[in-house]
Amino acid sequence: MKFFIDTANLDEIKEAKEFGVLDGVTTNPSLMAKSGVKGKENIFKHYKTICEIVDADVSAEVIATTYEEIIKEGEELAAIDDRIVVKVPMIKDGIKAIKYFSDKGIRTNCTLVFSAGQAILAAKAGATYVSPFIGRLDDISFEGMDLIAQIVDIYETFSFDTQVLAASIRGPLHIVQAAESGADVATCPLSAILGLLKHPLTDIGLEKFLSDAKNFS
Ligand code: G3P
Repeated sequence: MKFFIDTANLDEIKEAKEFGVLDGVTTNPSLMAKSGVKGKENIFKHYKTICEIVDADVSAEVIATTYEEIIKEGEELAAIDDRIVVKVPMIKDGIKAIKYFSDKGIRTNCTLVFSAGQAILAAKAGATYVSPFIGRLDDISFEGMDLIAQIVDIYETFSFDTQVLAASIRGPLHIVQAAESGADVATCPLSAILGLLKHPLTDIGLEKFLSDAKNFS
């Protein structure tokens, strides 16, 4: 399973990259706003910088919601760098645009997916990635991880090429469950990735090894 980091914060992206387990980055308008970058020119420069740091797939989301505008904005985003994946919302014009991008060889990430039916549409349109939002489903008392397993199952049955990208991951357990469910990718906050390190028996064991090592060093 690939690890993407879900942020537009350059320090976090650099830390994840240096940690050595990073396969890509996803962003969204909320994360971009949180990073403090404003204005089209600066935002495009920011995407370019992210691409150069990670040298891997970087999802950049369109703000447009009509077919023509999504195409225009998506083509501009794709022109920033070959590593850009155009993130498109799960709406009717978004699906049409994903089909257009797919035919043109522009890679896409279909976002804001909350049902298997939506995931089938994204795959039919030729999305490179589909992003079911696990945490936001959990937030409203639906089992987000069940959706991942359902989509993985359907995609396997019909040999769809679209990769299942578990999004809206909130902690390390979500990452483990996404792996168990067969997700191709988990996009996570840095805290969730680092959370995988933690086990009290590791800390206790290391403390004992280091204290015993003092006896022979
Ligand atoms: O980037 C999409 C998704 O990962 C957002 O997560 O935590 O805002 O629900 P969250």
